[in-house]
Amino acid sequence: LRHRAEGEPARTGTKAPARAVTVSETDRFRVAMPVPPVLRPVSTRGGRDVYDITMRPAECEILPGVRTGVLTYNGSFPGPTIKARSGRPVVVRQRNRLTMPTSVHLHGAAVTQENDGDPMDTIAPGADRIYHYPNRQPHASLWYHDHAHHMEAEHVYRGLSGSYLLTDSVEQALPLPSGPYDVPVALRDVHIDGAGDLAFSMGDPERTTIVANGKAYPYFRVAARKYRFRLLNSSNIRAFDLRLSDGSDIIRIGSDGGLLPRPHTTDRVFLSSGERADVVIDFSRYPVGTEIVLENSAPPGDLARIGQVLRFDVDRTAPDASRVPSVLRSLPRLPEPTGERTVKLTMAPPQAFMDDKVYDPGRIDAFVRYGASEVWTVVNANEVFPHNFHMHLVQFRILERNGQTPPPSDAGLKDTVNLMPGETVKLQATFDRYRGTYVYHCHMLDHSAMGMMATMKIG
Ligand code: C2O
Ligand code: CU
Ligand code: CU
Repeated sequence: LRHRAEGEPARTGTKAPARAVTVSETDRFRVAMPVPPVLRPVSTRGGRDVYDITMRPAECEILPGVRTGVLTYNGSFPGPTIKARSGRPVVVRQRNRLTMPTSVHLHGAAVTQENDGDPMDTIAPGADRIYHYPNRQPHASLWYHDHAHHMEAEHVYRGLSGSYLLTDSVEQALPLPSGPYDVPVALRDVHIDGAGDLAFSMGDPERTTIVANGKAYPYFRVAARKYRFRLLNSSNIRAFDLRLSDGSDIIRIGSDGGLLPRPHTTDRVFLSSGERADVVIDFSRYPVGTEIVLENSAPPGDLARIGQVLRFDVDRTAPDASRVPSVLRSLPRLPEPTGERTVKLTMAPPQAFMDDKVYDPGRIDAFVRYGASEVWTVVNANEVFPHNFHMHLVQFRILERNGQTPPPSDAGLKDTVNLMPGETVKLQATFDRYRGTYVYHCHMLDHSAMGMMATMKIG
């Protein structure tokens, strides 16, 4: 499973290099956090936006002064942001100029099977592939990433992910912070070795450098006003339990599938791999000159306790007409469930299982009737490993966590849900979009690449 070609990072060996290089605490917050470029369509005719993306190797500075080889969409680490609108289709031509097959999945989207980026439906090196995204779903902070069978973990780790922000008239009508005050932030970890290369090995505990939008421990200059941040955890395994260093309020307004019905105020935001949180932070409570660090308190199962993530530097005042209304959207009532099933997550490295089975792309694990609305009870049967659970095609709702009413952090439309060791989550999903085969898996990508993935057939 090791493949290397010219221009690609050299250190992909199975043995992790002895020493990770990182940024010491005293050298942090010296580079600005970039905002990934917004991709411009190559055509907007015929009522749809057409984009061109080339997957290619590139070099970037994740650590200040250190050149690191990465895999990219259009040379950008993370990939460029696509901005889309509900009801207006997007077409993306993906050119694979890497030396490995790839597959591009739009996480959280309802698309037909041919456009879903299935693990086996890959783009050969040198080939192109056109993906059609109908955007017939409400606003949501989606993201796209590689999904090639057995290689998704390494490919995403090396850089193949980007944001896809879908908006609609419901979201546009709200007076939330917008424009330069609406900022996507992709958080992840990396392990950079002594040669400056990204080290990859499954379950590597040395991914201890935290990166925001491609830079390790950056600062971000803000005005003393409200900002909206679209937080995405694009790490392979690491979960973030985020808070501000002064413990002050964060207003949670959305999750995976868009805005929550109502905002809720919290001092912590938990994100497992693949999850998103839409939050508003009001910096008007701070005098100009204040520095506040976004911190991570390591959740159980994390091997290294990592404190700092990024620093907000309040450097000016600015007018602010934005507000967070007390009602953000309404969600449809859940239909009566038509059936139920149970899914069990377990892992015994080097293998990981869904219902005691390793992923086999030739096997259908769940037959779902088209139009059904099912309650799935997902059980993390491991006593030590956290897992999470992601379904393609649908946005689901969480009904119960460990037999209790779920906490506010489980509210809204979800496509990925965290399960600590021993936890059980009941969710309800309605399969009324497309027929076909789609995968569901643990989104801790080292686990899915080790087999914790299965296939459902809707028909
Ligand atoms: Cu983020 Cu199978 O997906
Ligand atoms: Cu997905
Ligand atoms: Cu897992």
